[in-house]
Amino acid sequence: MSVGASAVRPLGAADRASVDGILRALRATGIFNDDEVETALELIDEWLQDGDASGYLTYVIEDATGVRGYVCFGPTPMTAGTYDLYWIAVDPATQGRGYGRRLLAFAEAEVERRGGRLLLIETSSQVAYGATIRFYERSGYDLAARIANFYRPGDHKLVYAKEFGSPQSD
Ligand SMILES: CC(C)(COP(=O)(O)OP(=O)(O)OC[C@H]1O[C@@H](n2cnc3c(N)ncnc32)[C@H](O)[C@@H]1OP(=O)(O)O)[C@@H](O)C(=O)NCCC(=O)NCCS
Repeated sequence: MSVGASAVRPLGAADRASVDGILRALRATGIFNDDEVETALELIDEWLQDGDASGYLTYVIEDATGVRGYVCFGPTPMTAGTYDLYWIAVDPATQGRGYGRRLLAFAEAEVERRGGRLLLIETSSQVAYGATIRFYERSGYDLAARIANFYRPGDHKLVYAKEFGSPQSD
């Protein structure tokens, strides 16, 4: 199915319930746990309250039938031009149709527009995230760091990175 009729726009207060539903559907599939859902919603509430100043830039993708997913990213404190991608989620009923790719491409374009030069994504090595890791790798992200046993024994933190413009590092 094409995502041609979909659009990405800032998340508004009326979208909170839709995103809540998507996060809970992902919780039901074992992708997120309760703490993660709660944290994701806290960031959304900070965005709704303070907008750009919150540091959690949050956008939804919607088609004719409603919100299909969202992305939350923002400037990393105490850096010059580094951004973090905090959350990206697509309704499990409509995954694999290009919504995630479109959300990520939007976030990247927005980071560049705001003068960003590096986008980082932290994720877990645990099995449930395997498809997500392939999604990042196919989107041009390189594994930049791995911290063994970070989340719990056997569950490592992976940091994926993508640079924009003309990278100056080696
Ligand atoms: C990761 C996620 C955002 C991707 O969104 P999506 O709309 O399903 O992805 P797309 O349809 O845009 O697919 C983009 C690419 O990833 C691939 N892909 C998507 N889901 C996949 C899966 N389950 N297994 C393998 N590949 C997958 C697609 O084939 C496509 O690659 P291609 O263009 O080379 O064919 C979505 O699957 C999701 O919400 N996952 C759960 C939440 C999560 O883990 N978020 C990240 C942590 S915050």
